Amino acid sequence: MNTSKPISIIVAIAENYAIGLNNSLLWHISDDLKRFKKLTSGHTVVMGRNTFYSLPIRPLPNRKNIVISDIIEPIEGCTMAYSIEEAIEKMDSDNDNFIIGGGSIYKQFFPFAQTLYITKVHKEFEADTFFPTLDMRQWKLEESTPMLPETINSFSFSYEVYKRV
Ligand SMILES: NC(=O)c1ccc[n+]([C@@H]2O[C@H](COP(=O)([O-])OP(=O)(O)OC[C@H]3O[C@@H](n4cnc5c(N)ncnc54)[C@H](OP(=O)(O)O)[C@@H]3O)[C@@H](O)[C@H]2O)c1
Repeated sequence: MNTSKPISIIVAIAENYAIGLNNSLLWHISDDLKRFKKLTSGHTVVMGRNTFYSLPIRPLPNRKNIVISDIIEPIEGCTMAYSIEEAIEKMDSDNDNFIIGGGSIYKQFFPFAQTLYITKVHKEFEADTFFPTLDMRQWKLEESTPMLPETINSFSFSYEVYKRV
């Protein structure tokens, strides 16, 4: 499949590529949530059904929410897509579309993403969901902003932006 639609992935990843456990996130970083809101507001966000139901507020306000599922029942306030192809069809053509998870959706959209907004959490976590390993021959690190731990028992993290080479 080929697409000219602008597709970005936004994700928070541990040092061991862990992203989730028991359909929950592995950490709470309030600055990262603010950054997520700032980057994605006014845009289309695309997610799998598990991630949709893990959101505290759903659908995410001020964004077009595309939810991918094999289940036919529509979810109020969301645009449903029953395949990756259908999700791409329903994306904006000239405004960034953000893939927001989870594991299965990141994996399937990874070949189509031109930009990765990664919050790199500088710690390893036990998890059941992981992000694909980055092949650094295919990605160029354009920005890296180190961030201090938010609390005394917390961990440092970095905001990284990669562009496909
Ligand atoms: N660290 C982060 O930045 C981040 C971000 C988001 C999520 N997460 C974590 O990721 C985990 C959830 O990931 P997940 O992989 O379990 O679930 P998911 O990707 O959110 O959703 C999986 C579901 O999406 C639907 N789906 C996937 N591919 C499809 C396709 N090609 N066609 C039709 N439907 C499709 C299926 O729904 P049906 O069963 O309805 O068919 C599938 O069960 C959670 O732990 C969450 O907290 C982490």
